[in-house]
Amino acid sequence: MTIKEAVFKPSATPLSTNKHLLRWVEKMADLTRPSAIHWVDGSQEENDALCQHMVERGTLIRLNQELWPGCYYARSDAGDVARVEDRTFICSLSKENAGPTNNWVNPFEMRKTLKGLFRGCMRGRTMYVLAFSMGPINSPLSQIGVQLTDSPYVVVNMRIMARIGLPVFKEIDKDEKRVVPCIHSVGKPLAPGEQDVPWPCNKEKYIVHFPETRQIWSYGSGYGGNALLGKKCFALRIASNIARDEGWMAEHMLILGVEDPQGEKTYVAAAFPSACGKTNFAMMIPPKGLDGWKVWTVGDDIAWIKPDEEGVLRAINPEAGFFGVAPGTSPKTNPNAIKTLSKNSIFTNVALTPEGGVWWEGLTDTPPAECLDWQGQKWTPQIGQQTGRKAAHPNARFTSPASQCPSIDPDWEAPNGVPISAFIFGGRRASSVPLVFQAFNWSAGVYLGATMGSETTAAAAGIVGKVRRDPMAMLPFCGYHMGDYFRHWLTMQRSLSVTPKIFHVNWFRKDADGDFIWPGFSQNMRVLRWVVDRAHSRAAAKEAPIGWVPRYEDIDWQGLAFPKEKFDELQAFHREDWKAEVMGHEELFIELHDHLPPEMVYERELLICRI
Ligand code: GTP
Ligand code: SPV
Ligand code: MN
Repeated sequence: MTIKEAVFKPSATPLSTNKHLLRWVEKMADLTRPSAIHWVDGSQEENDALCQHMVERGTLIRLNQELWPGCYYARSDAGDVARVEDRTFICSLSKENAGPTNNWVNPFEMRKTLKGLFRGCMRGRTMYVLAFSMGPINSPLSQIGVQLTDSPYVVVNMRIMARIGLPVFKEIDKDEKRVVPCIHSVGKPLAPGEQDVPWPCNKEKYIVHFPETRQIWSYGSGYGGNALLGKKCFALRIASNIARDEGWMAEHMLILGVEDPQGEKTYVAAAFPSACGKTNFAMMIPPKGLDGWKVWTVGDDIAWIKPDEEGVLRAINPEAGFFGVAPGTSPKTNPNAIKTLSKNSIFTNVALTPEGGVWWEGLTDTPPAECLDWQGQKWTPQIGQQTGRKAAHPNARFTSPASQCPSIDPDWEAPNGVPISAFIFGGRRASSVPLVFQAFNWSAGVYLGATMGSETTAAAAGIVGKVRRDPMAMLPFCGYHMGDYFRHWLTMQRSLSVTPKIFHVNWFRKDADGDFIWPGFSQNMRVLRWVVDRAHSRAAAKEAPIGWVPRYEDIDWQGLAFPKEKFDELQAFHREDWKAEVMGHEELFIELHDHLPPEMVYERELLICRI
């Protein structure tokens, strides 16, 4: 069947025999009143028909298939462009369990509110029953969810981001497995005969998690982490709860493998806040001068990490695709991402060129002479200059299959995951924080992650560029009390025979003129090389108040003329800055005080003494 002939007809025939599931679907349909139900099988034919259906309704635009095979383009509502942290709730039984960093509402009250919102909210729409597996279907580390949604856009995105459809229903039926029920609505029912809009959504948004019963209710948004419920809602907020209970970790981390010229591979997991460089780092191509080194990609956003019988931490990527930031992604900065997104991808809120292609700030040095911006308005470089309007929204994204990534690791779907030798934390810090340093030990490393700060980005609605504490890059994603989360990190070490080394990086330090001091991107390989060599105890370092730091001669500079003075500026440690920094740590700790592990207090005292 060619794409043009594809017609979408909902099929209400259940694809599962699981009684709990069937009853729940019925109950939710009764509440939300969709005009049809469709059980998603996940096939290519179904996907083509759904895309065609959305093209007809104006939700998707098919891109020029010669330039962008299998690719589609979507523009969201102007008010639905990023995660909404102030509308995200952790509704645990006690407020205490959610902790001060999460929005909490009494679960009984919230259920009442949600019932009201969801009553009849799918009128005039199809409810899709989407079974998905986070992690490879044959992995003991994987978890299954079922998302009910009235957004076909969500279905086709989830098909890229997770394993979905028939094979997952089969798993559910196998041993009546426990699944995480997720219900999602864009919150815009259609009256009979009412014309739909391309991106239906509701001004009022609720992204709600019930940690004890492991349920997710999302209302009002169709965008990214608000709506693709397998991602942040399940794989981080709910999974962090499961992980704490079961002795593993669900982290906002990329996973990569570094292969040295001798062929030895070392896996590293790194936590940087949203839009702070995980995708780029995960797919890095080493620069000129570091020939023979290679970076392999396992994941770019989320890691599920568990100690094996030998006490080695092993990680899987629970996702199957990348939901990556488009602006700034180019053949120069991230050639592997460009190849990954060249086909079978969905682009949201980028610009559309007259040839039926896509463009965003940074993709090419010269912008197209004319295009339509992310809101469908005419955009030219002149208009951009005069009005300051961007062609692509700063949080515009591509959704692409991980399997298409040229650097995808041969073991990226290994059921038992890959062994982790080092953790890297990193933030976006214009000042104070050096390019790289290593924590003295595990508890100092946990302190380092716990006190991490970063400037806010467009990945979440709100002010951009303000430094906030973002512990382990999990501030918006930890589904329970942040103090207990630190304790969980500290306790994890007890089940390990080898303790991964912990590092901190900052690619974003600026000079007096406001320019980045460090070239970043592929050059980050020089830092990664030092990290890997330190992890194997074969690189030198110097002791500093904040940890171990490389001297100029400890970094491999082959192929890059980077003067020592600039490196010193990058690595500079200023006592006054760090006194202020520690005050920032204290602000977070005061908030968490009654759940703060004593180790955090002692580590802070030690740091103060050294400063
Ligand atoms: P999420 O998907 O939101 O979790 O983001 P992410 O952490 O994967 O961030 P990503 O790699 O998409 O990078 C976000 C932005 O940071 C992009 O605009 C990149 O161009 C920019 N960036 C990434 N790495 C570097 C770097 O080494 N130096 C500089 N200056 N910018 C970088
Ligand atoms: C992030 O914000 O960290 C993302 C994008 O990875 S979203 O899926 O929208 O959460
Ligand atoms: Mn992310």
